[in-house]
Amino acid sequence: MTKVTMTVNGKSRTADAEGRTLLVDWLREGLRLTGTHVGCDTSQCGACVVHVNGAPIKACTALAQELDGADVTTIEGMANADGSLGAVQQAFQDYHGLQCGFCTPGMVMSAAALLKDNPKPSEADVRHYLEGNICRCTGYHNIVKAVMAASGQEVAPVAAE
Ligand code: FES
Ligand code: FES
Repeated sequence: MTKVTMTVNGKSRTADAEGRTLLVDWLREGLRLTGTHVGCDTSQCGACVVHVNGAPIKACTALAQELDGADVTTIEGMANADGSLGAVQQAFQDYHGLQCGFCTPGMVMSAAALLKDNPKPSEADVRHYLEGNICRCTGYHNIVKAVMAASGQEVAPVAAE
């Protein structure tokens, strides 16, 4: 067991890690940051996406010990300073981009990474970028709308049900 320290959501955090401890487990079990989800453990679903040194990664694919000293942002770091939802989170709420919410942390982290690189993506860009994030509930349509809205582009309102 080794002590691993990373800057997580702007604060220095330390927790033990074995050589085999995955980043997602270090975050969830070591730091109790359980917003990052585990949907598959085989690097397919994207529920575990976090940002490491500014880039999105699937946290089930990285070893915590190898990331000692890294700068990590999780879904808990996406809210505004006053605790209100960040812009991407708010758009997911406004455009019904979630149902059960299991995939949502990873979706939000991937969407935020896309918008950093491509602030005005096309719908095709969004769909392509989110290919590594699986949602069992929504059919993706409102997720794409939410990301488009978060980019400040005009999106048709969600129809009343
Ligand atoms: S838990 Fe990491 S990709 Fe599914
Ligand atoms: S909202 Fe349920 S898996 Fe995406």
